[in-house]
Amino acid sequence: MSQETVKLVYQGQTFELPLVTGTEGEKGFDISQLRQKTGLITLDSGYANTGSCTSSVTFMDGERGILRYRGIPVEQLAEQSSFVETAYLLIHGHLPSRRELTRFSVLLNDHSLVHEDMRSFYSTFPRLSHPMGILSAMVNALRSFYPELQTIEEEIDMTVTRLVSKVRTMAALSYKISRGHKVVYPRPDLSYCANFLNMMFDTPVRPYVIDQDMVDALNVFWILHADHEQNCSTSTVRMVGSGRVNLYAAVSAGIAALWGPLHGGANQAVIEMLKKIHHGHESIDQIIQRAKDKSDPFRLMGFGHRVYKTFDPRARIMKKVCDRLLDKLRLDDPLMEIARELETRALSDSFFVDHHLYPNVDFYSGIVLRAMGIPTNMFTVMFAIGRLPGWIAQWKESMDDPNWRLSRPRQIYIGPPETEYMPMSEREDREPRPIHRPGE
Ligand code: CMC
Repeated sequence: MSQETVKLVYQGQTFELPLVTGTEGEKGFDISQLRQKTGLITLDSGYANTGSCTSSVTFMDGERGILRYRGIPVEQLAEQSSFVETAYLLIHGHLPSRRELTRFSVLLNDHSLVHEDMRSFYSTFPRLSHPMGILSAMVNALRSFYPELQTIEEEIDMTVTRLVSKVRTMAALSYKISRGHKVVYPRPDLSYCANFLNMMFDTPVRPYVIDQDMVDALNVFWILHADHEQNCSTSTVRMVGSGRVNLYAAVSAGIAALWGPLHGGANQAVIEMLKKIHHGHESIDQIIQRAKDKSDPFRLMGFGHRVYKTFDPRARIMKKVCDRLLDKLRLDDPLMEIARELETRALSDSFFVDHHLYPNVDFYSGIVLRAMGIPTNMFTVMFAIGRLPGWIAQWKESMDDPNWRLSRPRQIYIGPPETEYMPMSEREDREPRPIHRPGE
């Protein structure tokens, strides 16, 4: 902590708040003593100006479009690394040696099966259940199947490996069961990404032929999603974890938070928006006009970001992956054309320029996932599998944080003042809303 301070003047008194400077020069002032010293709290809806922790996992610079995991630019990881190696880097804080990576891969294989009793859970979900709801419930249920181990170290190591390995099996399992197809088990001879594609698409009547370009595209997709510092789902994991809940429960909460269309659910929402245009339900013009209309809650999906205000570095890489994959597969996806036109139109419109709204990673990732044959309602599950190493790394970091405190934000109460209980006989008789009974 530096000697510099920020001065706060309140009711004639001056309070000094210590300045904290991060590795990359970003500055914030520490308000942990604020309420105790001044009786004041801060109000910051959406936490756009609030740092909830110090962290050494990921660095982002929204103005310069920088994203680094443990100091390494995401572009280099996407180019040279595998998802498993990136997961190791995030979780353990350093790139693995060859032996460390082999051990991690062996453990991922050893733990890839899911308890057979869990399969019966899957078949009891209603047929139209969203896969994100199922994944969140099933990850939480893992705690019942794999109880606590003896030592903290053994517990964390084993739980982390189990989760990274099983989440991919669980996602593929839910897809197969939802289609009423035979479940495909993980194969020890396949890499993490190839194994997932095989579990998704292999069938007894048409064996899946592993395509290295698909595997490479999936590796990049998952690397780009592996962490993104204190976003909605990650801060949920940290917040839920601050009550010292187990990792499965914290990640299950993170999955639920990711589901929303403004966050991880945007990749599904982008494709739904592009399909609407393709099917003629709305034109590009109408979509752009609606996004600009303040009285319409609609937003241009796949555009804008809380932190990136010039460009999203992940979107640039994803766009290249998208072009490469469509070229190689000779796929002429009409949605890609629409996406390109929508992007050009939005980027030349003063509303989007003035609001610093650029395509984010989800704008192109949906088209990549479509090209792989992933069904649209599984897109956010794909995001969740990718984000898992980040959630784990952040959860582990918060567990070891010497400044850890139970998360408990405060509020400014703006509601009725103290009011006396009024007996029923004295209350005005208001007409309640009618009870709606389906079928009546
Ligand atoms: N379309 C139209 N207007 C927008 C959009 C959009 N996509 N995004 C922001 N705005 C406008 C908003 O209406 C507001 O306008 P004004 O200042 O005139 O009232 C202004 O921009 C700021 O909005 P905000 O909600 O305060 O901005 P934010 O930085 O907190 O929002 C966001 C970030 C991602 C929630 C938002 O840009 C959005 O809703 N985007 C669409 C959903 C989406 O693509 N989400 C995926 C994000 S990337 C995946 C991930 O990492 O989660």
